Amino acid sequence: MKTPGQPRLGVNIDHVATLRQLRGTPYPSLLDAAKLVEDAGGEQITVHLREDRRHIQDADVVALRGSLKVLLNLEIAATDEMSQFARKIKPDWVCIVPEKRAELTTEGGLDLEKHEKRVSRIVKELSSAGIKVSLFVEPSLKAMKATQKMGAIAVELHTGRYCLATQNGLGKLSQSKAEKELNRIRDAGMLARKLGLHVHAGHGFDYENVRAVAELMDAEGKPLIEEYNIGHAIICRAVIVGMDRAVREMVSAVLAP
Ligand code: PXP
Repeated sequence: MKTPGQPRLGVNIDHVATLRQLRGTPYPSLLDAAKLVEDAGGEQITVHLREDRRHIQDADVVALRGSLKVLLNLEIAATDEMSQFARKIKPDWVCIVPEKRAELTTEGGLDLEKHEKRVSRIVKELSSAGIKVSLFVEPSLKAMKATQKMGAIAVELHTGRYCLATQNGLGKLSQSKAEKELNRIRDAGMLARKLGLHVHAGHGFDYENVRAVAELMDAEGKPLIEEYNIGHAIICRAVIVGMDRAVREMVSAVLAP
């Protein structure tokens, strides 16, 4: 049971759209998926409207905005097109992320030094429109200070490096690296809190590696991370836990009348 001060879970449903876009079918429905997230205790729907529209489409964001009971967090690159779109749709949160067209997923945090002017301007535009803004950055002390300077009210710590070190997948399994990365997340999160920022985290979490991060506490003994945004692992798990029913329904469908 969730008690006050416990973190909220934002569920990233981009890969529900990935499955739909693979075949151009009307299913799976993002709205149905979002409703299931709400019923299951997810407190936010997160979607990344990528510039190449590889999964989420503009119309998806419009439809979600019109039907969600929980918060909508829109991830966008720091471009004028995306800023304009977000101000029209008015999600509860915008998370500004870096974007390279060829990447498999968002591979690192924003480079705030390189894009200082543009990011600051877009944070200001969005904030003036009443949208809460977070910046997706590496868990470094420098990035925490830069996030505060740019006027965002929250930081989303990119946990990719930590997660890669805990999995035998794209990254190399290394306990010492995982510990080092976990310390970076803790130190950055603590500084962010001191600077008055909300602390969010995401990228690469699975059901196991999220536990060590969930155990990080702030100076008052409360969970350090206020919000998690998790996508791929949940969609992967949904395929497995949903397979039995999906097959049973199709077995019935192919039975001769
Ligand atoms: N947070 C941000 C800012 C992201 O870009 C992503 C990936 O789209 C996630 C969280 C979710 O990452 P994952 O799908 O690995 O859980």
